[in-house]
Amino acid sequence: MPLPKAELHLHIEGTLEPELAFELAARNGVELPYADTEALREAYRFEDLQSFLNLYYELMAVLRTERDFEDLADAYLARAAAQGVRHAEIFFDPQAHLSRGVDMGTVVEGLWRALGRWGEDKHGVSTRLIMCFLRDESAESAMETLDAAKPYLDRITGVGLDSAEAGHPPAKFREVYQAAAALGLRRVAHAGEEGPPEYIAQALDVLGVERVDHGLRCMEDPELVARLVRDRIPLTVCPLSNVRLRAVDTLADHPLPAMLDAGLLCTLNSDDPAYFGGYVGDNFHAVRDTLALGKDRLRELARNSFLASFLEDDEERRRRYLAEVEAYEFP
Ligand code: HPA
Ligand code: ZN
Repeated sequence: MPLPKAELHLHIEGTLEPELAFELAARNGVELPYADTEALREAYRFEDLQSFLNLYYELMAVLRTERDFEDLADAYLARAAAQGVRHAEIFFDPQAHLSRGVDMGTVVEGLWRALGRWGEDKHGVSTRLIMCFLRDESAESAMETLDAAKPYLDRITGVGLDSAEAGHPPAKFREVYQAAAALGLRRVAHAGEEGPPEYIAQALDVLGVERVDHGLRCMEDPELVARLVRDRIPLTVCPLSNVRLRAVDTLADHPLPAMLDAGLLCTLNSDDPAYFGGYVGDNFHAVRDTLALGKDRLRELARNSFLASFLEDDEERRRRYLAEVEAYEFP
């Protein structure tokens, strides 16, 4: 039995495996510019965040109907459950679909068909949805997206910020985060993946985020680290993603051990597992094997994932999950 854990940094569009991409392409009459799944996997040689994003957005063309989003989310939950995920807070990128003529209702209702009570009963995984704004699009577009989501707010727990980070500081989205907070939405943002440590501070100060996605580059600023430790701000760290997008040279160079030693509240996540070579359990195995993290550290990462999750509306469930972590016996 795998270690029980929550996944808090997972882009549902990044769980599109080549096999499902071809299946959905055939179902929807979409032509993919790759001969087969092997040729597509071959294309997964990223230089950086932007070269990944280009492929990530291109492949979304196969997602057209509610059923497509349902199948995508159902496939993720099955894989996640098999790796010990008990709770998942799932990002989606509505602007990447709205711009292709797929409306908000199709995306949210489709995902919800696989999540909600169904997902919980079928896979034993509780879920929340976090709607991300694309930071390389305008602030006006983000505000329009929040407006389009208003009929679906009972299904959306929070907002996030993703896509190309460099040159798109968090402060650009001050108003839309204010509006999201006024609607009762939780707030997170990608910061300090390729962007500088100042973007992390800005996400906290200007956007009021409660959790920072990636946050890796905080390690360049000791005062910022001290603040994150003091305020118990969770970081959603994604080691295999960091290697594939070259935020670090190799996994052996990853700062995760130093981050934990510094007292940061780190969690372990997969980001875009279909593209980055592994789901969250694979990330746990990778850091165990390559960074020599022992059982106490692995348990700490699992515990942190539930402490950092947005389960304030169900503290009894959080306690149950945390008890499972403490009772877990490593093989
Ligand atoms: N960073 C930024 N944008 C993204 C990512 C990421 O890791 N994954 C999907 N969109
Ligand atoms: Zn991400």
